[in-house]
Amino acid sequence: MKITMIGTGYVGLVTGTCLAEFGHKITCVDKIEEKIDALKQGKIPIYEPGLDALVNKNVADGRLRFTTNLEESVPSAEAIFIAVGTPTSRRGDGYADLTYIYAAAKEVAQYLDGYTVIIDKSTVPVGTARQVSRIIKDNNPTADFDVASNPEFLREGAAISDFMRPDRVVIGVESPKAEKVIKDIYKPLYLLDTPLISTTIETAELTKYAANAFLAIKISFINEIANVCEKVNADVSDLAKAIGMDGRIGSKFLHPGPGYGGSCFPKDTLALMRIVQEHGESLRTVEAAVEVNAAQKARMVKKIRDMLGGSEAGKTIGVLGLTFKPETDDMRESPAATILPALLEKGAKIRAHDPKGMEEAKSYLPADIEYVQNSYEACEGADAVVLLTEWNQYRALDLKRIKELMKSPIFIDLRNVYDPKNMKQLGFRYTGVGRM
Ligand code: UGA
Repeated sequence: MKITMIGTGYVGLVTGTCLAEFGHKITCVDKIEEKIDALKQGKIPIYEPGLDALVNKNVADGRLRFTTNLEESVPSAEAIFIAVGTPTSRRGDGYADLTYIYAAAKEVAQYLDGYTVIIDKSTVPVGTARQVSRIIKDNNPTADFDVASNPEFLREGAAISDFMRPDRVVIGVESPKAEKVIKDIYKPLYLLDTPLISTTIETAELTKYAANAFLAIKISFINEIANVCEKVNADVSDLAKAIGMDGRIGSKFLHPGPGYGGSCFPKDTLALMRIVQEHGESLRTVEAAVEVNAAQKARMVKKIRDMLGGSEAGKTIGVLGLTFKPETDDMRESPAATILPALLEKGAKIRAHDPKGMEEAKSYLPADIEYVQNSYEACEGADAVVLLTEWNQYRALDLKRIKELMKSPIFIDLRNVYDPKNMKQLGFRYTGVGRM
């Protein structure tokens, strides 16, 4: 099937590439010329494991191409995905900014030719697909089209396997004709018995927000429980394992840490709260999760300060990991961007390392951070080491060597990678989150 993907950000690029891998003919369109030029040369603007190889393979096989020219790719497309960004509005009120979605709808409208399904892939407030439909009708009253919603559930760092082996595919669609087109797009997933939930457009739109909000609540819940564990001398890892074995609870997303970050949970929880408030309702559980998350980041600053004897002034802190999670170079809403400036402000010196995120980090963090080339350099002469992102390469550090390199052996493990008992035996003053 001929498909046009509008937007070559994270979602558009991964979705377009994976659909090409399914055998469809994909044209990815973006307004940013430098991005398209780079993609044409095989340069991928984001770090996502496996994506560069898959892009290059599908380009070479003639199933994937990149262009800035919407006019040339829309008329022949049977389906058009809108996968442009929906950031939090610059007004700072938490609303999702839909400018790019509506602009894309308006532009697509004029080039439609023959029956086309327009599919919202971006995370959008309830009612957006209908608004897209209105915009297209206003701009091209004779266009033959249907609008559908098909939210994505990809995790950064695992996006390709999430796309190829999803837990489910959700489609919000009203016409049987459009439903058939979308089912044909995802046909390769039937072979894997992937459940496909076909529902109303509004349900699909809200499902995406509900899924992310629920996961955010789960993380904030375990973070609060971890904080209680510290007070009563309990171990949150054993506790999480024990409650997670209850099938009704589930073991995933019960890892405590410095608070959730990334481009999705922070933005989508805020946008969801605005959606429900506009309908005269509230989501107190989500409000609480957002508050707990902000408090968790601040709590980590205090934890580090306490471990340093009450003041970070003049102390050197080695930081391992800057990105909001491993296997990505994404720094958006990373806990590092809250915690590290707070420490610097009070006079700490920071030596930081991240396997993929250091270039990106420079535009999110204050200039006075020293970036180093490996984990051991970050620990050299440090008064304390803070493990902030659980990259695999930090899971088996030579701890004896680290202890020798450090000025004082204080290890603050904000991802609970190491065993507290073992760390103490090695002579560290160690703390995790929710385990002493
Ligand atoms: C999230 C969802 O997991 C995806 O399903 C969704 O498609 C995506 O948002 C989106 O809306 O586009 P992502 O932001 O890539 O994916 O990352 P997650 O793996 O969900 O992690 C989010 C944050 O939660 C990270 O900061 C991570 O460190 C934190 N986290 C996650 C925890 O602190 N504890 C956990 O147990 C799990």
